[in-house]
Amino acid sequence: MKTFYITTAIDYVNGSPHLGHAYEKVLTDVIARFRRQMGDTVYFLTGVDEHGQKVQQSAKKRGVAPQAFCDEVSHEFRAMCAKLNISNDDFIRTTEPRHKTVVSRLLQQLFNQGEIYKAEYQGFYSTRQEQFLQEKDRQPDGSWPEIFGEVTQITESNYFFKLAKYQDWLIQHLKENENFIFPRYRQKQVIEFLSEPLNDLCISRPRERLEWGIELPFDSGYVTYVWFDALVNYYSAVEDKPGLWPADFHVIGKDILVPPHAVYWPIMLKALGLPTPKSILAHGWWSINGTKMSKSTGNFVEPMAFADQYGVDALRFFMIREMSVGQDSDFSLNQFLSRYNSELANNLGNLVNRTLNMTNRFAGGVVPAPEESALNFEPERELRALWEKTRDEFITLCEGFQFHIALERAFAFVTATNRYVEQRAPWKLGKSTEPADQALLRTSLATMAEALRLGASLLPAVMPDTTDKIYGVLGYSPTGSWRDSLVWGERLTGAKVAETAILFPRPQAPDTVVAKP
Ligand code: MSP
Repeated sequence: MKTFYITTAIDYVNGSPHLGHAYEKVLTDVIARFRRQMGDTVYFLTGVDEHGQKVQQSAKKRGVAPQAFCDEVSHEFRAMCAKLNISNDDFIRTTEPRHKTVVSRLLQQLFNQGEIYKAEYQGFYSTRQEQFLQEKDRQPDGSWPEIFGEVTQITESNYFFKLAKYQDWLIQHLKENENFIFPRYRQKQVIEFLSEPLNDLCISRPRERLEWGIELPFDSGYVTYVWFDALVNYYSAVEDKPGLWPADFHVIGKDILVPPHAVYWPIMLKALGLPTPKSILAHGWWSINGTKMSKSTGNFVEPMAFADQYGVDALRFFMIREMSVGQDSDFSLNQFLSRYNSELANNLGNLVNRTLNMTNRFAGGVVPAPEESALNFEPERELRALWEKTRDEFITLCEGFQFHIALERAFAFVTATNRYVEQRAPWKLGKSTEPADQALLRTSLATMAEALRLGASLLPAVMPDTTDKIYGVLGYSPTGSWRDSLVWGERLTGAKVAETAILFPRPQAPDTVVAKP
């Protein structure tokens, strides 16, 4: 079976990691962990994009050499991955020799094949975006959109890659691979983009304008333009690892789908004679407190500080629960705290506390065997039926990247379990010495423990630590496959549970990690 090779975009290191970077890593991690649970072998790559004007400028502003600057900021991105429990197998930096040699070799190959030529270019240039602009990029009133920053007209000689030549091939390729891009409507955007003739792609920058890049192997007066460098990371990281290429899944944000990932990248690979990636997922963007995230205005979430204050799993949970994959979403402390309190603390946390508490109070801390005859009473039967439905839907939803709904279902099952506990009221049964009540007490304690175990076993892709903690306090260590662990059984009979557990402590008063607008 082929290894499932999944990647994130590689982040620019011109600033510290923010919530958008954190989200993409967590989303990709959830997919990677889910696939592993389903039995796939997964290889997960992430990393940083270190060349280009912005990094060069940021380093200059700080008065340090670009490499030293990259070393420092890359370290923060790596630390964020560790902090957020991202299960990546590799972390690539585009300044590493293993990457630079591959970029250089591929460029030389394309040059030898006649796919790259030199030409004079005159055009409007955006320094901020490091790209030449076209007439169609103007706003109706003739001005340039703000995202381009200052736009100037320049003339220079550069190297171009014959992109236009592959336009028909790409259109055909997209038609033949309808599921190339998720969500599907994004594929239509690509086709629409391709309804206009493509320009060849400028792949170089004169050294005097940009120094911080990979030198063109066939002309030392130039460095490689960022996309030709950055996109290659997906390949350079695994070229020497048999059986990984082509990538199965590139996870990226919607802003870098068209044209870089959906047009340049497949065409570059096609020209190189390499297989193209199987699919691309384009996620939406986070705003904060209803407005664009911006460090300068303080409307910014520092993912590591936030995780320190509220918990890694709580942050992972919120991002995945709140955002429908592909759509945009808003992050606010209020909404975070509302989900934290209602779903994590008062629902899941409460069930954990009750289970431990009741088991200790009425069964000496050991999960009792349920009474055979009582298992077919209505409340028990209903909860089991809801479990089977929840589990099957959860898997299907995750397969379709509908993680936010999958989590909603999982938590609805936790809610139903809490309701079951209230209905059975073990605290009342515990006061009775009637054999029938005692049988019901044992059954209800066994049922709530089993339902909690099962509910928790839906969560490890999103909240790996929380699942481990719940398993731990239930005295449960899973054996066998994940799918096997989702079968309702009596796995906890005889298990010794912990006395107490605080999974989701009451949050401290909000401080500066989320700035108010
Ligand atoms: N370096 C390029 C990508 C090269 S991939 C071969 C780049 N870097 S970036 O740092 O600007 O963005 C990295 C990723 O973070 C992108 O996928 C981008 O969409 C994502 N996000 C940046 N801001 C975001 C939000 N506000 N919300 C969600 N994701 C966002 O582009």
